[in-house]
Amino acid sequence: MLKYFLYAAVPAVLALATFVWLIVALVRQCKSWRIAVGVFGVEILLLAIGYFVYFTPVEYPRTYLDEPAPETGSLAEIAREKSFYIGAAVNMADNPAYRKLVPSEYNSITPENYTKWRQLLANEAIGNYDFSKADAIVDYAVENGVRVRGHTLIWGKFSGRTYPKELDNLIAEAADPPAELRRIMQEHIQTVMTHFKGRITVWDVVNEPLSMDGVYLDENIFLNTLGRSYIAESFRMAREADPSAQLFINEQFGNYAGELVELFFDLLEWLLEENVPIDGVGIQAHNIFKTHNLDEFRQFVQRVADLGLLVEVTEFDARIRLFGEEPDPYQAQGDYMAEYARICIENPACIGFTVWGLSDASTWFDWVTPVNRMLPNDPLLFNVNLRPKPAYTKIRESLRNRP
Ligand code: XIL
Repeated sequence: MLKYFLYAAVPAVLALATFVWLIVALVRQCKSWRIAVGVFGVEILLLAIGYFVYFTPVEYPRTYLDEPAPETGSLAEIAREKSFYIGAAVNMADNPAYRKLVPSEYNSITPENYTKWRQLLANEAIGNYDFSKADAIVDYAVENGVRVRGHTLIWGKFSGRTYPKELDNLIAEAADPPAELRRIMQEHIQTVMTHFKGRITVWDVVNEPLSMDGVYLDENIFLNTLGRSYIAESFRMAREADPSAQLFINEQFGNYAGELVELFFDLLEWLLEENVPIDGVGIQAHNIFKTHNLDEFRQFVQRVADLGLLVEVTEFDARIRLFGEEPDPYQAQGDYMAEYARICIENPACIGFTVWGLSDASTWFDWVTPVNRMLPNDPLLFNVNLRPKPAYTKIRESLRNRP
């Protein structure tokens, strides 16, 4: 992500600098204005080409539509027989796809946004909860025997988005910042988990503890105030709030091997040594700018399993444009998605595979910059008409073969 912005931002800044040079040269009547015009012209041309290449929507053949639609309605049924969860993120209770695909295809759902701290608050005021949107999503699932993953209690990455902005001020002004932060975290975790007790049975307690920019923990308000023990403490608070809920740490990985992964395993080992009540690792699995190395993914899953922890793929999506060079992009995407799912389904420690949206009609990629301009995204299991895409049949097969 960061790299992408650098690629986009650096040429733009250079062009701007050249433009300033041009203006200054003209005002001062320097001869260098001619060179500036030339350089500026080339830069604008390159930017235009880049813009054209990235931002012109493309269309790929949908060969899968030429084949008879697979018999549907059974994915969740097979998943249930195999004690596995096939899940989807649900953005709103009144998304028509929700009633059509749940409970027949998905036996697990995750509220996409409405169980996040900030979104649970009326007027973003700490302690002022409005559960109505979340309840509407959760109740439909529970009434239909569908499991709900809660997402997420403590997430420090972006102030004002992943947690209420007010927290920054409260902690900055507190006489005893660690004590104040603990108090607010405890109250939040206690209130939310108590509210959903018995309905939300698994929680992403801590989301994205790793940094996106280097080999260290994300330097957010929680880490800066409490050190890495904020992670351990969050889990302890969560266990106390609802002892029956499964507790996960959830993270996005660009690579499943390397220094950052080692740091993550150091963290897990430390949590286990400290007897922190953690049940599993959620792997987000967003494929935004590149696909992942699946051999490394398989080893990663096994490594978590070897620690005695559960695994779930919690937020899978893979943009179709990552497969644009393949002869049949939708088929290639389906093969990749099915292979990703198979690695999880084959491992007894991996108990769920959740895609980040009910269908291609509701993917966050269509809202988030810059991929909202790099269309189509179509990163999910069902297309906009709720017809299953090529991964569907293969995932069903893998489920049947689950040990
Ligand atoms: C995303 C949602 O899909 C968007 O609708 C929202 O605007 C931002 O958050 N990692 C996570 C998810 O853990 O909560 C994020 O969901 C995607 C990245």
